[in-house]
Amino acid sequence: MNSILRVGIIGGGLMGREAASAFARWFVLNNFPVQVELVAVCDLQQSLLDWFRQIPSVKLLTQSHHELLASPEVDVVYVAVPHHLHESIYLDVLKAGKDLLAEKPFGIDLAAARRIGDAAAVSGRFVRCSSEFPFLPGPQRVVQFVQSGRLGKPLEIRSCFWHSSDLDPSKPVNWKRQVRSCGEIGVMGDLGMHVVHLPLRLGWNPIRVYAQLQKIYSERPDGRGGMAPCDTWDNAMLHTDVVIDGLETPMRLETKRLAPGSTNTWSIEVLGTEGGIRYSTAEPKTLWVFDRQKEQWWNRTELGFQTPFPTITGGIFEPGFPDCFLQMWAAYAAERAGVLGDRFGCVTPDEAVRSHQIFAAALESHQTHSAVSLT
Ligand SMILES: NC(=O)c1ccc[n+]([C@@H]2O[C@H](COP(=O)([O-])OP(=O)(O)OC[C@H]3O[C@@H](n4cnc5c(N)ncnc54)[C@H](O)[C@@H]3O)[C@@H](O)[C@H]2O)c1
Repeated sequence: MNSILRVGIIGGGLMGREAASAFARWFVLNNFPVQVELVAVCDLQQSLLDWFRQIPSVKLLTQSHHELLASPEVDVVYVAVPHHLHESIYLDVLKAGKDLLAEKPFGIDLAAARRIGDAAAVSGRFVRCSSEFPFLPGPQRVVQFVQSGRLGKPLEIRSCFWHSSDLDPSKPVNWKRQVRSCGEIGVMGDLGMHVVHLPLRLGWNPIRVYAQLQKIYSERPDGRGGMAPCDTWDNAMLHTDVVIDGLETPMRLETKRLAPGSTNTWSIEVLGTEGGIRYSTAEPKTLWVFDRQKEQWWNRTELGFQTPFPTITGGIFEPGFPDCFLQMWAAYAAERAGVLGDRFGCVTPDEAVRSHQIFAAALESHQTHSAVSLT
């Protein structure tokens, strides 16, 4: 019953190599109905292409994504390139008749995301966007808790993704710090999909956004002895309203490059009158669940390795970034094969476009210092 998913990667940098590492550990999945094979890689940098030579299944290494897309060996393309290249390369993938796992933010801005979404719909290809943290056991428990109705009346939601290495002003500039290649939405383009995926999937669509955006460092070392402009938003706090069970509920979405002490820290907190739940990758095994009876408790549970797709890993071992990234790929492969069932799925094109609507509203809100309606 095993089918083989033959993948090509365009963009073999940080995430392209992370994907290759996930494929190399695919056998960790227990009785998974789809096998995966990395067959082709495209990057502009020869040194990165050379890195992929150690993977025996890779038959094509090229600096031209058109050459990769012309290969009949490739079924699915994972594209992990700077944001200004998303639209043209994603559209080329669809034109070539391939399925796509796109990297976030799914185009440099709302207009690009809409064009990609429209092209995906017309093409009929299977298209999803990357966001891996919801596939960790903790966030999965958050989804189950909310769906079980144990919240009571909703009070508030907080979904955050925090980084801190940019606090160091001597950190050199890169494409993620410049509007031209990262996009006007800045940190929201980098980190925003991660904070909206789970809320949107639970039906929490903001009807209103008030945004506070901060630019702290306006230039950074260019790596050649000079300075280069650094013109993207560093931190974004989006105060939104969502309607849950007929009640307008505050939902805060926080994406920060300048969050003291936080290294890739993803967290979520959902509070209600009867129950609540809190999880952070800063404590990857720890789940906090609120219970209100005559007295009130925050109960702490140590989680194990209860991933959506079973693995051979011991049930008491702790998961991390490579594990949730592999689980996300498993969700992509399972959904594409029609066997996802009621498990959590990757970001859909529609959700990706909605994320951009939120970020575009945030830009407008910050400019006008007023709340922007999304209905
Ligand atoms: N899911 C996640 O957790 C996560 C984390 C980091 C980045 N990302 C996303 O992944 C994407 C890539 O980010 P990254 O951190 O891997 O960046 P990166 O700079 O490490 O890698 C990008 C690669 O694209 C290559 N490239 C540029 N133009 C190309 C072209 N025309 N054809 C082929 N290759 C080309 C570059 O040479 C580079 O190796 C972005 O969309 C980013 O937002 C996702």
